[in-house]
Amino acid sequence: MVTGRDAGAGFRPVTVGLAGVHGFGAVHLRNVTRLAAEGRVRLVAVADPRPPGEELPPDVAVYSELRELLDAVEVDVVIIGTPIQTHIPLAELALRAGSDVLLEKPPAASLAEFEHLLSVIEETGRSCQVGFQTAGSHAAQALAAMVADGRLGELRGIGVVGTWVRTAQYWQRSRWAGIRTLDGVDVVGGAVTNPFAHGTAAALMIDGSGCADQVRSVETELFRANAIEADDTSVVRVLTSRGTTVVTALTLCAEVHDDEPVVIVHGSAGRAVLRYTKDRLELTVDGQTTETQYGRDDLLENLIDHRADPAVPLLAPFAETGAFTRVVEAVRVSAPPAEIPASLVRWEGEGLERRPIVAEVEKWVTRAGEELALFTELGAPWATS
Ligand SMILES: NC(=O)c1ccc[n+]([C@@H]2O[C@H](COP(=O)([O-])OP(=O)(O)OC[C@H]3O[C@@H](n4cnc5c(N)ncnc54)[C@H](O)[C@@H]3O)[C@@H](O)[C@H]2O)c1
Repeated sequence: MVTGRDAGAGFRPVTVGLAGVHGFGAVHLRNVTRLAAEGRVRLVAVADPRPPGEELPPDVAVYSELRELLDAVEVDVVIIGTPIQTHIPLAELALRAGSDVLLEKPPAASLAEFEHLLSVIEETGRSCQVGFQTAGSHAAQALAAMVADGRLGELRGIGVVGTWVRTAQYWQRSRWAGIRTLDGVDVVGGAVTNPFAHGTAAALMIDGSGCADQVRSVETELFRANAIEADDTSVVRVLTSRGTTVVTALTLCAEVHDDEPVVIVHGSAGRAVLRYTKDRLELTVDGQTTETQYGRDDLLENLIDHRADPAVPLLAPFAETGAFTRVVEAVRVSAPPAEIPASLVRWEGEGLERRPIVAEVEKWVTRAGEELALFTELGAPWATS
């Protein structure tokens, strides 16, 4: 690895352009600032229709559009932290301008868009890393290795369980939140494809089934308690081509927010629970449970290392997010989410703090992830009424 400190005289930091500076873009901005302090990158310019505040160094150029930025300056890497529906057009612009790309998740709002960008990546020969940060988690990598070498025995399947609380403020934060299409353009901005995307993508990665052709089928059961177009309480079941059942069950209408969503690997010889936001892995084999805290690698640093030495593999290469995009596609073409009957929903809070709580949702979501079953199969009341 070549770093700012140990590099020779010919070294220059990787130049970076950032599309999207507010919202999650601000997280990228902080990361770029950290790596700039280490001499590894130099932030050259940003693009956002909403100008940045005073957080930018004075020598960073500001544009309202990525196209303008790319016309004016050459950058080695473009980071795209913008709304879902802008991902593919902006990534294509950057790749065609000769930049490598770090693209936020979900990479695309449809399979057709995904395949289009895949062909642009092949044509331009550039690199595209997707912002599934769990791919850099050493805990997830350790679990993937255990699954690959059969240490947990035969797989019964993989469950993903997430129970979060989101208030009205979350749905009102931007025009695209909770939307399926915006001005005729696919967004697919629900709970499966956006906040809990990491869980499903991690499960597919752990199964070694990241590519689009490694998915045999996808079933969806989408529901909502909020007055939104997209889903907030759902279950999705994927069958991978190696025969693993992956069930993601989730809600944004929980009684209590649990900020440790889990990926559970059910094996004949053991059970593993990955707390993917915390890089913690709990392993139960022969009745003995151990828990290990791991670290993680940063996706931008990995992209920089890959640029310097192509033998360093990308952690979340665009092609290996195809299986996850099959899930996005299934959600996109599904019927709109069914409204959960009012009798099963309790509302709390006022104004921007207002939120729905679906009756016993934690129980049903947990059962789906444990039993690898759909809400209808379990008899969850909103799915059978
Ligand atoms: N990896 C993660 O854990 C994680 C977490 C949250 C969000 N995200 C992803 O980050 C992306 C942004 O989400 P958000 O909630 O911050 O969205 P947002 O609506 O707040 O937009 C982020 C920024 O992009 C700007 N923007 C919008 N259109 C643009 C364009 N065409 N060109 C340049 N800038 C543009 C907005 O003005 C805003 O400053 C989404 O893809 C989301 O899924 C990832």
